[in-house]
Amino acid sequence: MKLSAITLTLALLLSQGIVEGSTISGLQRRTTSLLMRPVGFPELPTAREVRASSAGTGLDFDNVQAFIMVGMQKTREVLVFFEITDPKKFKAKLGTDIHDRITSAIEILDVETQPLTAVNIAFSQRGLNTLGIEDDLNDSHFRGGQNQDAVLIGDPGTINWVKAFTGQNVHGMFTLASDSHDKINDEWKSIISALGGSIQEVYRLKGDARPGNMLGHEHFDYVDGIAQPVVRGYKPPYAGQMVVRPGILLVGEEGDSVPRPSWAKGGSFAAFRQLKQYVPEYHKFLAENALSVPGLSKQENIDLLGARIVGRWKSGAPLDLRPLRDDPKLGADPTRHNNFIYDHPELSGFNLKNNQTFCPFAAHTVKSRPRAHFDPEEDVNHIMRAGILYGPELTEQEKSSQTTSEDVALERGISFVSYQSNLQNGFISVQKEFSNNPLFPTGTNIGEDPLTGSANTGPPGDAPRTVRGLDPLDLEKTIVFKKELVVSRGGEYFFTPPISALKTRLSQ
Ligand SMILES: *[C@@H]1O[C@H](CO)[C@@H](O)[C@H](O)[C@H]1NC(C)=O
Ligand SMILES: *[C@@H]1O[C@H](CO)[C@@H](O)[C@H](O)[C@H]1NC(C)=O
Repeated sequence: MKLSAITLTLALLLSQGIVEGSTISGLQRRTTSLLMRPVGFPELPTAREVRASSAGTGLDFDNVQAFIMVGMQKTREVLVFFEITDPKKFKAKLGTDIHDRITSAIEILDVETQPLTAVNIAFSQRGLNTLGIEDDLNDSHFRGGQNQDAVLIGDPGTINWVKAFTGQNVHGMFTLASDSHDKINDEWKSIISALGGSIQEVYRLKGDARPGNMLGHEHFDYVDGIAQPVVRGYKPPYAGQMVVRPGILLVGEEGDSVPRPSWAKGGSFAAFRQLKQYVPEYHKFLAENALSVPGLSKQENIDLLGARIVGRWKSGAPLDLRPLRDDPKLGADPTRHNNFIYDHPELSGFNLKNNQTFCPFAAHTVKSRPRAHFDPEEDVNHIMRAGILYGPELTEQEKSSQTTSEDVALERGISFVSYQSNLQNGFISVQKEFSNNPLFPTGTNIGEDPLTGSANTGPPGDAPRTVRGLDPLDLEKTIVFKKELVVSRGGEYFFTPPISALKTRLSQ
């Protein structure tokens, strides 16, 4: 009865030309969530919880694009990088058809309000210029574009970059996420048709979570995406989760100290990078450099080296709490697996600045979130990681040859996206000041981040990285990473506007 009444009303509205196609597709809602919650991942709040938590704070999560807030909990995603070829027509569609399709941070939370495919949109500086938007967003990295930062972030020469990111025509990025690529493709067709030839696709990257029990793990097999900050006013934190002022992720909110145009409030800068992972080479490296800690088996010594490189075990259990063996129960528990700071005041004589018994200073998790190495830990350098993986599982051929295929269709890695209100404080600090800086965090030469760090300052090519502290039996021993196991294929910076700006400033 109820359904037919709705159909009737719809038919009536349709006949009066009130409801447009996009609204109808907007009415197709889901019965199962498009977000995943793998073992160990935090529970997302409900829309009602976020509304209660943000009441009275002035934060408007209905106006914030969805993927700024939900992290890496997506199963299927396509990023489409596009050029605006007809700005006038594009602008006319932006405030109507496109605006109505953009999924908000509130809508994404409940199955009943999720669309079949969630859609977000962001623009590069070139894209804003093409639209004739001259307002200064006041972020110099955004203004210059990532290509201009290549030397700064350790990619001199951009020899490994995807062509699209060394060119001039990436104007924007659509993010489409769903639980199937068929649904994503349907939505993309519909967007393309709505835009009536005003954009051209420049490049796309298809993303997929890994299958089976590797769901939520990146290609080197470690759980990825469980150490995210939480915006104050969004939801209560888990123990050890960093609570950031809203303006650390969202432009124009408390904690963002730079003046911005008023229409930009609630937006966020996105740093995209395509990070290729050399998976068989990683496993080979661990086997060839296996540790020799007494009492551990050969495999345990291999796994320990991997954990000391990452700072966590494959399950997500932090090395700082489990220095010798994985503890999958701990890894699976978001109430406990962030509850550590690398310091151990409970142990008399423990000195954070020179003790790597628990976790090496160069470990990826220390380099990307140093915790007590900043005392007190500040919120300014925190970023929201919102990427997904790309590429297939290893083939038998790659496993037996211990070599990554050169077939580009088999390329795999991380489709990395970080959100922050300030690229210098966020992405650039984590990449340049922490990961690529051999002196960080202690001021002594411990080396670059063995995974995502780069020692390349030019000329182009792999510069070997020498990392200390990985062998607990000989902390002065250097382990040399001759080739990068994670190679940057380039990327771009984007501004993800508040949804309201699509209807106002950006379409005027
Ligand atoms: C950019 O920031 C500077 C100070 O950091 C300020 O003087 C200027 O007004 C800002 N520009 C805009 C467009 O907000
Ligand atoms: C590091 O701390 C552990 C635990 O307190 C201690 O056993 C070890 O001797 C310390 N190492 C150094 C180099 O101080």
